[in-house]
Amino acid sequence: MKKSVIIVIALLLHLPSFGWGQKGHDVVAYIAECNLQPEVYQKVVDRLGGHSLVYYANWLDNASYSDRYRYTKTWHYANVDDGYTYDTMPKNEKGDVVTAINGIVAELKSGKLSAEQEGIRLRMLIHLVGDIHCPMHAGRLSDRGGNGVIVKFFGKDTKLHSLWDTALVESAHKWSYTEWEQQINRYCTPKRKAEIAKGEPKDWLKESYALATEIYKATPEKGKVSYDYIAYYAPVIEQRLLAGGLRLAMILNEIYGK
Ligand code: ADE
Ligand code: ZN
Ligand code: ZN
Repeated sequence: MKKSVIIVIALLLHLPSFGWGQKGHDVVAYIAECNLQPEVYQKVVDRLGGHSLVYYANWLDNASYSDRYRYTKTWHYANVDDGYTYDTMPKNEKGDVVTAINGIVAELKSGKLSAEQEGIRLRMLIHLVGDIHCPMHAGRLSDRGGNGVIVKFFGKDTKLHSLWDTALVESAHKWSYTEWEQQINRYCTPKRKAEIAKGEPKDWLKESYALATEIYKATPEKGKVSYDYIAYYAPVIEQRLLAGGLRLAMILNEIYGK
């Protein structure tokens, strides 16, 4: 193999992970789609050039590697070390998931964006409301949100971060994103949905941080993760994906609804 090819492969293996795996983001976006007022859905799809929310749910994870959108690299998470809260933790000057969501919502509400800018801001928002619900996206700075913690997932070395972004979602249920929606959104009562959708980005990060604190304790370096762990945390994953979808819908209904 050529040396350059080996270097590229080595670099790819060390890419930090950037949020729920594709499935998690698709589920959040689809649950949002199912909870939008019909005219809001039409407006959003129109601004996305005729595409659905699911279509762009993962777009930012790739875009953040491009020169044009490199400034969004730190927008996917907000690290909180032990003994800190989001407010007392030194701020990442390049932005974090809380400041990014708040900034985008303010821009969308301002009505000052061009149609193209609005479409791009929507793509970002759809993704980032998913990310803020990933527990390890509120993990410690000292281990880059669990990217520096290796655990044994069915005997295989796995980063704690990607265990929570991807492996657990895929292991919890072998559902498509529409099946996820059917199982966790469609049977949720309107009253319960309204309770879940409450709050603002800072509150949602706080929930992720509380979960991250519990997860660090339950999953130490080299800790074993298998069936019992998946069974215990599947309802937590379901709750985070549902909350992400309902809150994304709430934000969009508020911006574009009557
Ligand atoms: N993804 C990449 N870097 C990260 C960090 N420091 N915390 C959480 N998620 C990340
Ligand atoms: Zn992300
Ligand atoms: Zn991630």
